[in-house]
Amino acid sequence: MNTNLGVIAEGVSLSYNSRLVLGDVSLQLRKGAIVTLLGPNGCGKTTLLKIINGLLRPDSGKVYVDGNDVSRMGQTDMARLIGHVPQTQRSSFPFTALDIVLTGRMPHISALSQPGPRDLEKARQAMDMVGASHLSSRPYTQISGGERQLVMIARALAQEPSFLLLDEPTSYLDFKNQYQVLKMVSQIARDQKVTVVMTLHDPNHALMFSDEVVLLRKLAEKGCKDEQECKVKSNRNCQNVVAAGSPAEVMTPENIFEAYGIEVEFINVRKRLILLPL
Ligand SMILES: Nc1ncnc2c1ncn2[C@@H]1O[C@H](COP(=O)(O)OP(=O)(O)OP(=O)(O)O)[C@@H](O)[C@H]1O
Ligand SMILES: [Mg+2]
Repeated sequence: MNTNLGVIAEGVSLSYNSRLVLGDVSLQLRKGAIVTLLGPNGCGKTTLLKIINGLLRPDSGKVYVDGNDVSRMGQTDMARLIGHVPQTQRSSFPFTALDIVLTGRMPHISALSQPGPRDLEKARQAMDMVGASHLSSRPYTQISGGERQLVMIARALAQEPSFLLLDEPTSYLDFKNQYQVLKMVSQIARDQKVTVVMTLHDPNHALMFSDEVVLLRKLAEKGCKDEQECKVKSNRNCQNVVAAGSPAEVMTPENIFEAYGIEVEFINVRKRLILLPL
């Protein structure tokens, strides 16, 4: 197995209530890369992240993270390897924000032990990194959506994983915090050689912050006309991946049209490509 590859998906398919949502997804994501999954609502980004994290089992296909078959990994090993910030966060218990971040240390604390000073330090450092130290003693149930998002990202950082899966990390964040968080994630990926797989909705963020982009399309609501035909790998209607590779290669107007059905153009501003809907 190629040791430069962090995440490998081989022919992953999944249906919900016999509707095909992910069809034959194969990916090879480089270790240490920042990878963005981009695509319209309902195309299967969250589902794919859950499969990579072992929370969902695909109907067929395999996923390997750092060479490990995720279907064979235990929860603790998984939590040491992968930090996951889900799309929606809920907590009805009034733990403080710091307590929540400390739970990220659980995979490193042996059974029946309490978090030690080192765990507390890691948790505080993580809160500092996302600019959320001021929230430490606030009940998690009484902070805003964006503040919760920062706390959950800090929790994943406190976990010190080699792989970080972020499902719409910027969705609740203000204009400044969106950039701050994405910059911080890029820095961590570079400095600590963490592989990041995240979903984003803003293609310009994807252009700015990704080493690789996986552009996905939504499969037809009514399913395939011909299931046999669907199994033929060249049938694009039953496959989600429009293109995968460098942002510039993947995010062409043609590919964006194929994924979203809208016309866009790129403009060059101060040596940066900006995508605009027409
Ligand atoms: N538990 C479930 N049961 C049935 N259908 C589901 C379930 N979870 C998701 N789906 C459906 O599967 C499809 C893919 O959902 P998913 O959440 O992976 O999309 P997404 O790309 O993350 O979308 P978004 O950008 O809106 O977050 C959607 O059509 C959704 O309605
Ligand atoms: Mg989603």
